[in-house]
Amino acid sequence: MSVLVPTMGALHKGHQALIKRARSLSKEVVVSIFINPLQFENEDDIAKYPRSPERDIQLATLAGATEIWMPDYAEIYPGEITKLKASPIGDLFEGASRPGHFDGVVTVVNRLFEIVKPETAIFGEKDFQQLQIIRAMQSNVEIIGVPTVREYDGLALSSRNVRLSQSGRVSANVIYRAMAAARLAPTVAIAQEIIETTLATDAGFKSDYAVIIDEESFNLATDETKNKRAIIAGWIDGVRLIDNMRMGA
Ligand code: PAF
Repeated sequence: MSVLVPTMGALHKGHQALIKRARSLSKEVVVSIFINPLQFENEDDIAKYPRSPERDIQLATLAGATEIWMPDYAEIYPGEITKLKASPIGDLFEGASRPGHFDGVVTVVNRLFEIVKPETAIFGEKDFQQLQIIRAMQSNVEIIGVPTVREYDGLALSSRNVRLSQSGRVSANVIYRAMAAARLAPTVAIAQEIIETTLATDAGFKSDYAVIIDEESFNLATDETKNKRAIIAGWIDGVRLIDNMRMGA
C-alpha cells in the first residue's frame, strides 16, 4: 500500500516527521511537492513562498521517501479547474482571514488523491483546521495527523519562519508560551485571559485570532466542551504564523 505525504516543499524537520510516520506504515512513501496557486490569496504570497528543491530531495530521501513527485501545473490542473468547496468550518478563522484558501486546499488534495491513489495520507497537526477539513472530505483515503514539531523554545516549525528577522524570531515563541501557560487553566475564560495577556506582552505580535474552540465544530469552546484546542494566528514582521495546542491534561 502507498502512503502519500503532500507538501509544498521548503521541507524541514516537521515534514520529515510526516515522512517518517508514513515510512513506519509502508515501504512505499510518495512525497508530493507542489506549490498550489489555488490556496494563495495573491501573487505576492506565492512569489515569496520559499523554494529549495535540491534540499527537499535530500531531506525527503533521508526521512524515508521512496518517491518524490514534483508535478507541474498542467499535470495537476489539466484544462478547466473544478474547484471543490471545503466543509463549513472552512469559512471560519483561517478561512475567514484567507477567503477561498481551504477550497484551494481541498481541490488540490482531491487531485493528488486522484492521481496517486494512496491508501493513507499524512498531514501535520500544525495546520489543525486544514487537517480537520481534509478529514471531512468525501474520500476513501485514511487521513493521519502527526503532532507538531517545535524548535527548542516552542516555536512550531514552519516554512515561513525563515522570513522572520532576528528579533522577530525571538518574539515568535510568544504564541507557544501563551498556549502552554493556558493549557491547564481551570476554565475556558481563564485560559482565554491567559492567552490574551501573554500575547499582549509582545509588542511585535499582531494578533488575528486567539481563541479556544471545539475541535470538531470549531465553535468557541465552553467548559463543557470535551475536546478543546487553542488556535492562534497573527503576524510578526509581517509574516503570518499559526499554531494550536490541545487544552487540558
Ligand atoms: O499543508 C500544506 O503544505 C498544503 O496545504 C498541502 C496540504 C500540501 C496542499 O497544498
